[in-house]
Amino acid sequence: MTELMIEATDVDKKFGDVVALDGVSVTARKGSVLGLLGHNGAGKTTLVNILTTMLPPTGGSAKVAGFDVVRQSHDVRSRIGLTGQFAAVDEQLSGHDNLVLIARLLGAGRAQAHRRANDLLEQFDLTEAAKRNAKTYSGGMRRRLDLAASLVGNPEVLFLDEPTTGLDPASRLAMWEIVEKLVADGTTVLLTTQYLDEADRLADSITVLSHGKVVASGTSAELKAQVGQRTVTVTLDSASEVDAALRAINGVGLHPVADGLTLTTPVNASRDLATVVRALDDNGLEAHEIGLKEPTLDDVYLTLAAN
Ligand SMILES: Nc1ncnc2c1ncn2[C@@H]1O[C@H](COP(=O)(O)OP(=O)(O)O)[C@@H](O)[C@H]1O
Ligand SMILES: [Mg+2]
Repeated sequence: MTELMIEATDVDKKFGDVVALDGVSVTARKGSVLGLLGHNGAGKTTLVNILTTMLPPTGGSAKVAGFDVVRQSHDVRSRIGLTGQFAAVDEQLSGHDNLVLIARLLGAGRAQAHRRANDLLEQFDLTEAAKRNAKTYSGGMRRRLDLAASLVGNPEVLFLDEPTTGLDPASRLAMWEIVEKLVADGTTVLLTTQYLDEADRLADSITVLSHGKVVASGTSAELKAQVGQRTVTVTLDSASEVDAALRAINGVGLHPVADGLTLTTPVNASRDLATVVRALDDNGLEAHEIGLKEPTLDDVYLTLAAN
């Protein structure tokens, strides 16, 4: 049996009249990455806050590492790490002192706390900046320090709330590699993101939230299959060929739509590409350009979440 490290069942959260979460259920197996994908205001941070015991749900229930987030919040807290909008880092302290402080708060002895801090600084490429105040750090360094701070206690479950929002491409890639390494070492991760490529790259399963509701969930491939539509696009050389090409493709049972010189035809199988080419050929038409477009996570997101 696979061990569920995150299990939320029908979670509701209301703030007065605002329904932030409406019957949300998610699960994550041990050592996997659950991606929570949604636009601003979808309810991502609210769900993270509930799972990390910072907010009580108004309905439903949730377990993290096997413990109930309301009734066993202390057990949950000792097994999780959180990196998000309200990270624990003190800007007036150096990176090193921040990590030592957190280790001491978690009960480590002086020598042990220094060792843990130095290990993490090394692991996150912050050794050179270790003695500088955190407020002098760049965005990427600051984000790495936040993540290091959340790892001091060796959490079993790590919550990353939009870990790469606002980062430059190189820092983003560095963060992705760090997350992949943590997961390879057995950490379970819940990651929220507005970025499709991030969910696609990091998440084993993805839940799409829109206005507090789950609108889709599955692996990246499943989501693409669920709503994604393959299309064959044909671009012609001249406007005079468009009508004939539409008729030709219709003639083989497909349904193209024209936009300027480009015809887009939804298809089911990649062999339909050949069908389209043959239909054109049989009618003495030649495409300037022809291609098969696989659905992207963008298509999923636009179809399901943008309303
Ligand atoms: N403390 C709060 N009081 C009132 N409304 C809130 C509060 N926190 C979040 N909300 C509302 O709940 C919804 C979900 O917010 P949030 O979870 O922050 O979304 P996300 O993290 O996906 O951007 C939004 O409409 C937001 O305005
Ligand atoms: Mg948020």
